[in-house]
Amino acid sequence: MAKLLFLILPILSFVVPHHGSVEFFRQPPRPLVYTLHDGPKSHPQQVHVSLVGKNFMKVSWVTEETDVPSRVDYGKVQSKYDSSATGEHSSYNYFFYTSGEIHHVTIGPLDPATTYYYRCGGSGQEFNFRTPPATFPIEFAIVGDLGQTEWTSSTLAHINASNYDVLLLPGDLSYADSQQPLWDSFGRLVEPYASRRPWMVTEGNHEQEIVPIIYPNGFKAYNARWPMPHEESGSESNLYYSFDVVGTHIIMLGSYADFSVDSDQYKWLANDVAKIDRSRTPWVIVLLHAPWYNSNLAHQGEGESMRVAMEEMLHNSSVDMVFAGHVHAYERFSRVYDNKVDPCGPIYITIGDGGNREGLAMTYKEPSPSISLYREASFGHGRLRIMNETHAHWSWHRNNDSASFAADNVWFKGLSSEPSCSQKIRGKNFQHDEL
Ligand SMILES: [Fe+2]
Repeated sequence: MAKLLFLILPILSFVVPHHGSVEFFRQPPRPLVYTLHDGPKSHPQQVHVSLVGKNFMKVSWVTEETDVPSRVDYGKVQSKYDSSATGEHSSYNYFFYTSGEIHHVTIGPLDPATTYYYRCGGSGQEFNFRTPPATFPIEFAIVGDLGQTEWTSSTLAHINASNYDVLLLPGDLSYADSQQPLWDSFGRLVEPYASRRPWMVTEGNHEQEIVPIIYPNGFKAYNARWPMPHEESGSESNLYYSFDVVGTHIIMLGSYADFSVDSDQYKWLANDVAKIDRSRTPWVIVLLHAPWYNSNLAHQGEGESMRVAMEEMLHNSSVDMVFAGHVHAYERFSRVYDNKVDPCGPIYITIGDGGNREGLAMTYKEPSPSISLYREASFGHGRLRIMNETHAHWSWHRNNDSASFAADNVWFKGLSSEPSCSQKIRGKNFQHDEL
């Protein structure tokens, strides 16, 4: 029966039309939520976890007191910690603001699909997280341009209402925009969610916080607070990296790092995609901030120079999906390469509808380009459930629908299982093996 479903559903997804704008109530922006820390200064706050290397997790938190140890005690039973690990802490300055102590501790090796209970710095409440499974299926919650408004709270509640394994965020986290206390407030707002599941992020324009001469390189708060496993993937920059989780190779690109053909990022990407082994990771997905395909009038053309530089490399690597943020709306494209439908190109999705203070991007190009299959300016989040080596389900959930309702949803096959595309992959892997 399950096999039959897999045969029927992909066919249905191509038969059932998803075209055109769906007329729907457009939500207005909602006010900022400023989240306070109400515990003692030594207690952890802004706790979040991220994947780092195989079977390890990085636990990050902030304390207002400086002499709290960077230690995490953890175990599989509530309040019983049979393991412990230590890490490092530091703070940063930004004009007259000095951050709290930002702690990072890597713990593991951890068992898959297991709940661990943990305590940070030996004080405060107990947290818990669940590690990703060892095998398919795996479910990703995907949302960009999150911010910290009442819409953000609503998005997070919807994300949390059903189960997922890993959250992927294609840029624009706190919208602090140089007001550093807003980074702390954001950390406290997301803690109930980001302390329970790994959150993997890449940077958006709102992370830059560049000040000419004083902070010319920017990303001071972002790099200090949200370090991602870039060294583990051979990247020298926290602004781009990759990692594997359950048969999926995930590439986090940096829209705000140099991506020209002579750049470190370009060379790193070429090296990274050359190492992909589709027999080990049949799925390859990419996240970046400024979309390469976008029929919204907001941010038109901003991703174009990056597309021109890197699209061919992604196409040659048979990337399955590319997720972007930046445009505060939802849009799903067909498989595309060089502005045309291409059955071996990635599916492009804009998911910058997390709920930030700037509100929605309401106006679209008319008529809708034929490669755009579904577009709508509403807040929400996406779910990518990879069922097995060959099939995945994508759904988009509007905040003002019930949590279980998917406004847009589609089944699709991975490119490594499409005969005409997988030939190219096999050829590439063969050449790679021969070298
Ligand atoms: Fe943005």
